[in-house]
Amino acid sequence: MLIIAHRGARTLAPENTLAAMQAAINSGAKAIEFDIHSHGDECLVIHDRWLDRTTNGKGLLQAYSLEEIKQLDAGNGESVPTLWQLLTLVNGQCALNIELKCVTHLPPLLKQLDLACNILNFSADQFLISSFNHHLLKQLKTLAPKLKLGALTASRPVDECAFAENLGAWSVNLDIDTVCQELVTDAHQRGLKCYVYTVNQPDDWQWLARMGVDGIFCDIPEAAVASFPQTAV
Ligand code: G3P
Ligand code: MG
Repeated sequence: MLIIAHRGARTLAPENTLAAMQAAINSGAKAIEFDIHSHGDECLVIHDRWLDRTTNGKGLLQAYSLEEIKQLDAGNGESVPTLWQLLTLVNGQCALNIELKCVTHLPPLLKQLDLACNILNFSADQFLISSFNHHLLKQLKTLAPKLKLGALTASRPVDECAFAENLGAWSVNLDIDTVCQELVTDAHQRGLKCYVYTVNQPDDWQWLARMGVDGIFCDIPEAAVASFPQTAV
């Protein structure tokens, strides 16, 4: 089972910071999930629209200039990274699941992924782009048909994973609270990988592994890797 470090290794360093990404690499996880927002032509690595929970800033991310955001403390003296800073740090050592939060335009993202394959040590199949916003995924499918897409859902749709198959997704990324054997079996019958968030209890890891789930998003990747030794992605 693939262990995906959630927001980096967020129990070892502030979430979605470069320190959390380095801790995730060190944990032995072969994949890292993080969240991005558009900010002008830049992509910033941060979970919330509001700065208050994860930084010493107050108010909306979009109310700050890029220079102001760079000065903020995202915990332990870490700053809010740009996507490019993160790509440079990870440099192909792990696969990346980039979760699109408030992403308003896709070309800057695609340009950076392209550059990461050309001047860094990534290959395109190391990227999985996911979102709860399926309209964004649909646009991505048109702009970059070969990019792997993860269709996120917090619900169990009545037609199971048809929505993800219709998007041409690589995976369905499911909530632990709604996952069940029928949903996992349906995903696999449609040729989709099945990843589940956010799973920090060893009993849940074992339950999901028995169900045939392909991977879990985990805040304590070092412990999960000890239970499920990883091979390269
Ligand atoms: O991508 C899986 C998971 O990260 C989705 O929820 O709120 O942690 O971004 P959230
Ligand atoms: Mg996320």
